[in-house]
Amino acid sequence: MTVKTTAGRYGRALRSSVVLHAVMAVGGLIMALYLVAHMYGNLKIFSGQAAFDGYSSYLRTIGEPLLPYSGALWILRVVLLVSVGAHIYAAFVLWHRARAATGGKGGWRYQTTRNRRGVQRSYASFTMRWGGIVILLFVIYHLLHLTANVIAPGGASESPYERMINGFSIWWVVLSYVIALIALGFHLRHGVWSAFASLGANTSVVRRRRLNQLAYAVTIVIIGGFLIPPVSILMGWVR
Ligand code: HEM
Repeated sequence: MTVKTTAGRYGRALRSSVVLHAVMAVGGLIMALYLVAHMYGNLKIFSGQAAFDGYSSYLRTIGEPLLPYSGALWILRVVLLVSVGAHIYAAFVLWHRARAATGGKGGWRYQTTRNRRGVQRSYASFTMRWGGIVILLFVIYHLLHLTANVIAPGGASESPYERMINGFSIWWVVLSYVIALIALGFHLRHGVWSAFASLGANTSVVRRRRLNQLAYAVTIVIIGGFLIPPVSILMGWVR
């Protein structure tokens, strides 16, 4: 005889696809919020070296003396790591379930009886998995470049401002960032829409339209804002 305990039911509920979609949505939205703040901070490059390097060191002294040096930054890093981990875990489990449910063929995403090729079919909606992998590889490259100073095209420097100028004066470094940002743009365009839909916000045609507009607006602001510093440095507008 199977005894259904509350803990057992609770555990099953936590592993349900609905909860995993919500986990993916919340993790993704936390990262999108971080990207807005990060993009805004990068624009400080236009205020000169002292302002940009001062901003970078300010990030490490937030909360002092209550928190140790870099304490707030480490809290943020842990939040981001948990968000990325939960996002990727949920994506992987849901992908595995979708394959299993279609006999290992993967099936047509968004397939309906009305439309064999599926509603909501867009280039973005079909590039989420590969886009996600490109973004993950980019973040590793980016951290080795601008945070750890390990990859230093144009020359290593203790100054974050100089690291930016040295790196983005080289066309292929800018190109590598542009490619990653295009992948991020597709991911965000579909991801922002999908996250709010997973959290139950697409309940009417009007709301769906608003969600689409919001997804485009967030994507344009984040990607446009991120592109401005590298392109300006390459053009020689910031030295
Ligand atoms: C052109 C685009 C970008 C530029 C110019 C840029 C610039 C920088 C710089 C200068 C730092 C080092 C800050 C410091 O040490 O004080 C940094 C750190 C970081 N960036 Fe970016 N970034 C860009 C895009 C991105 C994107 C798209 C992501 C995520 C998808 C990202 C994620 C991060 C992370 C996680 C850190 C480490 C923060 C920390 O823990 O210290 N960046 N970025």
